[in-house]
Amino acid sequence: MDPDLLNTLKDAVHVVTLRDSGNIDSRTKISELGLNSTTLTELIGILEKNFSIRINNKETALLNNVGDLLSLVRNRIPSGNRFPGSECLAGNNANHRYGISGNGACCDIAQFPEVKKLDRRLDEFDRVGVKNPYFEVHDSIARNRTSIGGVEMLNFSSYNYLGFSGHPKVMEAAKDAIDRYGTSVSASRLVSGERPIHRKLEKALADHVGVADAVVFVSGHATNVTTIGHLFDHNDLILHDSLSHDSIVQGIYLSGAKRKSYLHNNMDHLENLLERVRDQYRRVLICSEGLFSMDGDICNLPRLVEIKKRFHCNLIIDEAHSIGVLGPGGRGVSHHFPGIDQKDVDIWMGTLSKSFAGCGGYIAGSESLVRYLKFTAPGFLFSVGMSPPIAAAALASLQLMQQHPEIVERLRERSRLFLDLAHKRGIDTGNSVGIAVVPAIIGDSMKCVRVSRALAARQINVQPIIHPAVEENAARLRFFISATHSEDEIRHGVNALAEELNR
Ligand SMILES: Cc1ncc(COP(=O)(O)O)c(C=O)c1O
Repeated sequence: MDPDLLNTLKDAVHVVTLRDSGNIDSRTKISELGLNSTTLTELIGILEKNFSIRINNKETALLNNVGDLLSLVRNRIPSGNRFPGSECLAGNNANHRYGISGNGACCDIAQFPEVKKLDRRLDEFDRVGVKNPYFEVHDSIARNRTSIGGVEMLNFSSYNYLGFSGHPKVMEAAKDAIDRYGTSVSASRLVSGERPIHRKLEKALADHVGVADAVVFVSGHATNVTTIGHLFDHNDLILHDSLSHDSIVQGIYLSGAKRKSYLHNNMDHLENLLERVRDQYRRVLICSEGLFSMDGDICNLPRLVEIKKRFHCNLIIDEAHSIGVLGPGGRGVSHHFPGIDQKDVDIWMGTLSKSFAGCGGYIAGSESLVRYLKFTAPGFLFSVGMSPPIAAAALASLQLMQQHPEIVERLRERSRLFLDLAHKRGIDTGNSVGIAVVPAIIGDSMKCVRVSRALAARQINVQPIIHPAVEENAARLRFFISATHSEDEIRHGVNALAEELNR
């Protein structure tokens, strides 16, 4: 028995079950590990990732005890490459194990199994005779309306919630910033990329959220990855909502912390997990979104804050879809709930690509947090500063949002109208509260694609979200509402959807 391999397995079992895995040995039956089908898949996924191997479902089904699983893993990995991260060269017989031939086929990327799998998925569109709905080219500003291939469409597929992308004041600010500073700052801000517009934007964001300071990053996705990946490590546990965005999950992987998801928005589950394991970890981070991007429901922030205080955890709230959308003047989810102190959330994260009509992300919080990230987070330190027109567009959007709270109100009114009409027409909108994001759950990926194509033929643009992005029975069309939609456009969109669903 290879003790390192066994320890890795014990660790992985602990991560997915959060149970004590110290007593596991090679004779322990797989059925005694306390796994269900989801956690078994998670466990196999961790082993696959750790050892860069593949284990298929049939092999998993044949496993009787831990010894079988360890042998399977041991035989699958090339000797000498057992523990990724440690420096090692492949062992003597690695070539033999992979049967590498002289023709170099193993380095033909087109033949990688994962690449071929994607090709098969894309071919499926041709096979069932529907046009691939992805990478549609828009040839105009995408607000309530857009133009695709020269055809004007009613648009429900952009995060331009407040219509600020394409707003004359925002475009003017971006053009003015180009005239002053050019299109790129051409260096990391730490060395010579700092421009006045950066700090102006960061101070304004911090005030808007209600905390001491903020720092902006050039990508929203990278904001989560680098922040979570940098602040936590293998001594820590990260508990995240099961519907968390990929950027949160990638940040957790990068950190090396133990990870466990809690049931979507289920605070009792979160509390229960913490009761069982809080004292086994140095730090525990809880991750949630403010307004969930897939389902359009809102996190239970008062309970998150109460739980994080009681169990001495850190809390990050991703406001990608709630900043500019919830709270008076779009100040976000903490202003949506009465009585929340913004400082009770350690890390406020948001993106600039949605209500702020730009691109990139921010972290807002205490001065110490922001200073630490600015001097040490790799995704900030070793990346170029935000380009001047983007920073200026985001700042102008923020100012518009504050000067015109009625635009935020209009977004909510239009969204509510969409939800009410959808309910009247018997459309399943899942958990959506009817603010900015309203899914129409169809539960069949190909039907989703067909309905989206049928709507496109009626000049209505809405994207399908299909398996594997969501479970097959949760496949959906996701409608993003904008303050620029007129009431008539909302009515037209819902009526057309209901007609196509009933066809
Ligand atoms: C919840 C959430 N967080 C982070 C991101 C990443 O932001 P960006 O697309 O601006 O990189 C997204 C993107 O849609 C998101 O929905």
